[in-house]
Amino acid sequence: MTPLRFLSSVLNPHAADPVKLPPGYRNGADWVPRIGDIFPDFEAETTLGPIRFHAWAEGRWTVLFSQPGAFTPVCSTELGSLAETAPELDRRGAQAIGLTPDPVGDLANWCADVAELFGAPIRFPMISDTGGAIARACGMTHPKESPDLPIRKTLILDPALHVRMIFEYPLRIGRGTDEILRVLDALQERDRLDVATPADWQPGDVLLVPSAFSDAEADARFGAGGWQPLRRYLRVLVPGAAESRVAGNRNSGPRLPRQR
Ligand code: BEZ
Repeated sequence: MTPLRFLSSVLNPHAADPVKLPPGYRNGADWVPRIGDIFPDFEAETTLGPIRFHAWAEGRWTVLFSQPGAFTPVCSTELGSLAETAPELDRRGAQAIGLTPDPVGDLANWCADVAELFGAPIRFPMISDTGGAIARACGMTHPKESPDLPIRKTLILDPALHVRMIFEYPLRIGRGTDEILRVLDALQERDRLDVATPADWQPGDVLLVPSAFSDAEADARFGAGGWQPLRRYLRVLVPGAAESRVAGNRNSGPRLPRQR
């Protein structure tokens, strides 16, 4: 380190950090992303060239996933599965980006090999986090799983860069891409209609009145006949009630749910 850099680092110890963690994330223990946080910005090398993360991710839904390493069995199946799923992400206005601790050349060779093996081209970027600085700063490591490798973490970020969902899988267990799509659908439906989704919900299934709404608020939002209480604490929406309110068409009446 040059003397000038050393003097600057005394005044601002985090100036050289690759990830721009907001000061509020630094208090006490290591920061880990939580639902509602704005995911930190960083610069990185990827298989599709250098990126600044916020500029790359802002404006679309993003599935950011970390993996322990290239040319390994579980990671290869995950990469193949995400490559196959990429068109489904695209249909939802979403994009994927992966992260491993490998050099970018190794990542590019691995992507080409996995594409050949599973017959699905990897069109999304893979971040080369050699040294693991991004994984450590962004809570993608887990001391009990590995002292140095990133675990299988998946974060769904909304177009304003908020963390909306976090999945954490141990090193030996491959993640389920269907669940990523299901949660993406549920988050987008929640934002579009201001509703809640029940367990195992899929597009077209019944929706719930969020517990945060009183009955009067539910009437105001979904119409007096737009919801039914099964219990005081469990209120289901009549099919189409939320959509008709969003469309501003109060006279159209409920519509049938979409076929699955
Ligand atoms: C795997 O992908 O199989 C793997 C990679 C690193 C550590 C453990 C498992």
